[in-house]
Amino acid sequence: MSKIIVTGGCGYIGAHTSIALIAQGYQVVIFDDLSNASEESISRIEKITGTRPELCVVDLKDKNKTNTAFEAHKDASAVIHFAAYKAVKESVEQPLQYYENNLFSLINTLVAQQKFGIKNFIFSSSATVYGIPESCPVTENSPVKRPFSPYGNTKKIAEEILEDNSNSGFSTISLRYFNPIGAHKSGDIGELPNGVPNNLMPFITQTAAGIRKKLMIFGDDYPTKDGTAVRDYIHVMDLAEAHVVAVDRLIHKKQKENFEIYNLGTGTGYSVLEVIKAFETQNNLSLAYEITERREGDVPIVFASTELAAKKLGWRAKRDLNSMVKSAWNWEKNYRKENS
Ligand code: UD1
Repeated sequence: MSKIIVTGGCGYIGAHTSIALIAQGYQVVIFDDLSNASEESISRIEKITGTRPELCVVDLKDKNKTNTAFEAHKDASAVIHFAAYKAVKESVEQPLQYYENNLFSLINTLVAQQKFGIKNFIFSSSATVYGIPESCPVTENSPVKRPFSPYGNTKKIAEEILEDNSNSGFSTISLRYFNPIGAHKSGDIGELPNGVPNNLMPFITQTAAGIRKKLMIFGDDYPTKDGTAVRDYIHVMDLAEAHVVAVDRLIHKKQKENFEIYNLGTGTGYSVLEVIKAFETQNNLSLAYEITERREGDVPIVFASTELAAKKLGWRAKRDLNSMVKSAWNWEKNYRKENS
């Protein structure tokens, strides 16, 4: 059974990926500093999979502690690196915290991997590196631009570091996520942002749960079908399964280049209003919302070309928008019931 180290594995995407890895027979060890996620994720993963992943609480900004954690797991076959801060607005207010956390933890991880001979690495990147794309669908060859936020820039810089670090002895796959939403079908795990959500789906589910009064739609004067911005929403379990495919590719040495990049999206763009409508229809409820000003830095339209991932990884997203909005609400409802 190959051992995979999942950094940031208590977080939203990391926990769903851990579930998908365990389901495919991998042994998962989670490295997390619990700064933005809870240990409870471990019990939730156990409840769903029947296997409790080992948790190693470690701050990857600390080089010595990182080395110690890796030494104990030097038999791992690969690392999937989710551990990072991800709040766009906060990164504009506190850029150094973002550069320090996201880049030091990346470098310490890579140095520890080099030291202990763990040669496979998967990186959690973002479509934010494309900025405002000239055309859609966005392929992996579309120009990378300086992202609007320090958060986004840490993803761009990280990819540059990874490209330089990849060679015949070290293989990397960088996965550029579009907009991951939804939750595991059990409703036992899902997205749980701290404080007021910045992203659309948790704001919608919290509004439906009565925690937020109404959803503000950021702009209805974009050049789109209904004026609201268009994104490529992808079910978090599809995203999780893509990581498993990428791990298989690295471990079985199927990759063609030492550094590969793949978009992870569905290839279909939906507007904010379409997402709201799907949420209302599928869950049989109505959502309070209001149109307001555009949000600074927002991209009008972005959706992925999924051809490279289909051709090289043999992976395509399987779940549709209805499944995304239903699972998101199922999780939110369950969680609020548990905690009421
Ligand atoms: C945002 C980040 C992106 C990051 C991604 C994942 C920005 C500019 N981009 O992407 O860098 O990788 O999250 O964390 O912040 N919307 C509303 N009302 C809301 C929230 C969102 O109308 O309360 C709209 C937005 O204008 C956008 C869409 O919903 O059109 C999706 O927004 P969001 O979920 O924040 O994702 P992105 O902005 O695409």
